[in-house]
Amino acid sequence: MHGSPELPLSFTLNGDAVSVEADPAARLLDLLRYDLGMTGTKEGCGEGECGACTVWIDGLPADSCLVPAFQVDGREVRTIESVDPARLGPLLSSGATQCGACTPGVVMTGLWILENPGLLRSHAIRELMAGNLCRCTGYDGIIEGIEAALGTRS
Ligand code: FES
Ligand code: FES
Repeated sequence: MHGSPELPLSFTLNGDAVSVEADPAARLLDLLRYDLGMTGTKEGCGEGECGACTVWIDGLPADSCLVPAFQVDGREVRTIESVDPARLGPLLSSGATQCGACTPGVVMTGLWILENPGLLRSHAIRELMAGNLCRCTGYDGIIEGIEAALGTRS
């Protein structure tokens, strides 16, 4: 697709072993969406600014538009397709989503907070979500959704 020779690439995607032939310089975002059909991950800015394309690599959120495919060889990638719908309701309550453009990335970062609540000992939710831009909600709904999912609302 990008004119470079394709090379074998193996990694874990949402818990399953995946082996593909891919342009190693292709973006992880494109590998996921166009080679592997994981279209839940969205492109916003394409420049590492908005967080719409957030996935997890080895348990940490990453902008998949900035990650060359070869960097995930041998690693664990998690996309929004892996998220239990039962967890989405609380996370997206309280007006956390309007147009939805940011939502897949917000969910992936929000889930990272939910699954690593120790982060909140040293960081505020708003700080941890700083890499996910939203043009619509003013962020309060997103923060409230995560707080509700954490069960920490007072
Ligand atoms: S599309 Fe990747 S950070 Fe905006
Ligand atoms: S809901 Fe529209 S950009 Fe976040």
